[in-house]
Amino acid sequence: MNDAQLLALEAKYCSWGDTVHYAKQLNIFREADGIYLYDSQGVEYLDLQMWYSAANFGYKNKRLNEALKKQIDTLPQLACQYLHEEKIQLASKISQDIEKKFGVKGRVHFNVGGAQAIEDAIKVVRNKTGKIPMFAFMGGYHGRTLAATAITSSYRYREHFGHFSDRANFIPYPYKFRCTAVKDKKDCCDMSCLKPFQKMFESEYYSVLNPKNNNCEYGAFFVEPVQATGGYIVPPKNYFKELKKTLDKHGVLFVDDEIQMGFCRTGKLWAIEHFDVVPDIIVFGKALTNGLNPISGIWAKEELISPEVFGPGMTHSTFSSNPLGTATGLAVMELIEQSNFDVEVPRKGAYFLKKLKSLQQKYPYIGEVDGLGLALRIEMCQKDGFTPNRELTDKIMNIGLKGELKAGGKQRGLVLDIGGYYKNVFTLAPSLYITEEEIDLSVMLFEEALQKALAS
Ligand SMILES: Cc1ncc(COP(=O)(O)O)c(C=O)c1O
Repeated sequence: MNDAQLLALEAKYCSWGDTVHYAKQLNIFREADGIYLYDSQGVEYLDLQMWYSAANFGYKNKRLNEALKKQIDTLPQLACQYLHEEKIQLASKISQDIEKKFGVKGRVHFNVGGAQAIEDAIKVVRNKTGKIPMFAFMGGYHGRTLAATAITSSYRYREHFGHFSDRANFIPYPYKFRCTAVKDKKDCCDMSCLKPFQKMFESEYYSVLNPKNNNCEYGAFFVEPVQATGGYIVPPKNYFKELKKTLDKHGVLFVDDEIQMGFCRTGKLWAIEHFDVVPDIIVFGKALTNGLNPISGIWAKEELISPEVFGPGMTHSTFSSNPLGTATGLAVMELIEQSNFDVEVPRKGAYFLKKLKSLQQKYPYIGEVDGLGLALRIEMCQKDGFTPNRELTDKIMNIGLKGELKAGGKQRGLVLDIGGYYKNVFTLAPSLYITEEEIDLSVMLFEEALQKALAS
């Protein structure tokens, strides 16, 4: 079928409840390879979002595809009440790695999607603490199942689905460029936004703690180590350390959501490794299987998830530890062990950021560029370099998706994802194998799209 026929059917038979119709420009892609997507005309699109950081190791990664194919020919299906080697090996690898890095013992529980793993983390917290209310960040995103939505800040995601009595208490995220605590303050992050949170524990009248028995009403704080959908915001180095001091003092668990930033997006296996804190629970998904047969999961400290505490049947999903996923996940972990992403990702990220900073010098519409490893942000503004410019951001994205850019001497497209509190931030998550030439090309394509958008 050609694209026009398919789009006519899509308009009639596909639900529009997903995110496809956020963009004006609808693309049907026919092939993917490395860092590129291809449409029906064979036009090449350089992809700077890689399935929202699920395909970190490149499309059609040979080694990972082979691991999946091998599993298809040996043990492709197995009900998850029975054991298979790859599940046990993968859980062991993740737990042993965490024990080595953080010095704590724990266990892994698998599920299918990110939001489902978040639900499992919520179950572990509720089961251990008996508490339903949670803390989470403004601008945070933890998925769209009902419980994940309750700890995700956007009211838009809750609006149509009734009253959320378990809605989190949302705290400002340390957002250097656009301070969320002090109105319109730019280039802040002296961590002054943390003070009102710390103060909440000083008196029972601030609503979260009974100081007489040190009992906090809240079970856990759900944290993104780099805020992802919120616009790839990197917090100050000491922020989580300071935050955790308060949480530890009052028995509030620290849940680290690595679904988007895990698996070397920032250079480390877990982004939280940059911040010198030990999480109680780590939640992961996406790039664990490079976007192939999905699995997600949680790692939790032994005292939260030991068989005595979290016994058989506490949570389950038919496809949770599917062998195609565990075999690919194991191959991903082995690939990471045998690579040097800890060196290469920061090096490439620094190169990319330097190029973006030069671009920023030329265009006042680029308010900020920043990043950690290969999680990079470009915040688009009005000419004053601060007022959010959603219109320009949308224009650039749609121009990229048209596939008519010429930079680099060939017709190409550019695939960009938009995030941020004002939907004015390009959240760049390129393949971790991106080369310097491809970074140069990315910046040239972005500049061409920006110029076209400004001229239109
Ligand atoms: C930080 C974070 N948590 C949770 C989720 C939800 O994961 P999923 O879409 O697989 O349910 C996402 C998805 O983008 C995410 O970025």
